[in-house]
Amino acid sequence: MADSAYQWRGLSLDVVRHFFGVDDVIRVMDIAQSVGLNRLHLHLSDDQGWRIDVPGWPELVARSSGYGVGGGRGGHYTRADWDRLRAAADKRGLLLIPEVDLPGHSNAALHAEPGLNIDGVTPPAYHGIEVGFSSLRMAAPDTERFIHDVYRYLADISDGYVHIGGDESHATDPAEYDELVHLITGTVRDAGVRLIAWQEAAEHLGEGDLIQVWDPRLAAAPVLAATERGAQVILSPASRVYLDMKYSEDSKRGLVWIGHTELADTAAFVPDEAIEGLDPRHIAGVEAALWTETLETFEHLSYMLLPRLAAVGEIGQRGRVDWLDFIERLPATARFWQERGWPYHRSPGVEWPS
Ligand code: ACM
Repeated sequence: MADSAYQWRGLSLDVVRHFFGVDDVIRVMDIAQSVGLNRLHLHLSDDQGWRIDVPGWPELVARSSGYGVGGGRGGHYTRADWDRLRAAADKRGLLLIPEVDLPGHSNAALHAEPGLNIDGVTPPAYHGIEVGFSSLRMAAPDTERFIHDVYRYLADISDGYVHIGGDESHATDPAEYDELVHLITGTVRDAGVRLIAWQEAAEHLGEGDLIQVWDPRLAAAPVLAATERGAQVILSPASRVYLDMKYSEDSKRGLVWIGHTELADTAAFVPDEAIEGLDPRHIAGVEAALWTETLETFEHLSYMLLPRLAAVGEIGQRGRVDWLDFIERLPATARFWQERGWPYHRSPGVEWPS
């Protein structure tokens, strides 16, 4: 849509904490397309699993894709699966963005590959939902080759953008974090694709890169400094567009670490006003996120996405939500969702169809 407010209108889906197969992801693409989005970002690695087959590293999926949160159903994408996802995304006007999240969030990789551990001893598989306890180590024998092979491959199968993660590396020594992220960013840039990272890696980003800002508790200064070097910002403030947050205390699924998020809270998000001091010309766009610690089926995903993702689509296309106009159009949109069999939450303030 050439006249949209933002060029980047995305949804990020966590396929690690619970795995979703190609058909479910394509149904999520249908939802994303229906609300005017043009990017689907897949979070493919984390402490609980590794979801993409990487040539030369068969143990990643052999040892670390068979489970998720709670130890339940796992899975991964083969190259043929990925090609199917990419073709489906292309058909729907979506770019598919692969993310391998390093150097933290890496227990599944460490569990699969002895050579990523300094002592060669692999940690146990992890089925919980804590974050910030795992890290690649610069001194482990296979770290450099691993980073090179993984991100070269992601660049090869990407639509021109590769997300490197970089968030919540609480178990990484700061100097080592810089070395590891330097290696990762160098690999991605050398591969000739655009680099995206979570905001914690902002100091490594500049001209041509994208910073994904998610945590309102973190300082904005490194993000602003990166925009001075030419980076653009993708806004994903958890308090507005983390659509795994419970709608209210009555929600059966979802998390609450940043609070409850009703449709009206998402709809009140105005990107231009999100970060004090951020020049609106440095905003590439907006991206909602759906983390899946508590979400196990397509129906769970759909219920958390809708109706809030419709507000995100509106913000991406128009810059903000005109609430009265939006809620007047929503009942007709919801009838379409019902016809498609997409569960949605009946947020207060809207005259939902019966
Ligand atoms: C994040 O939610 N840790 C990016």
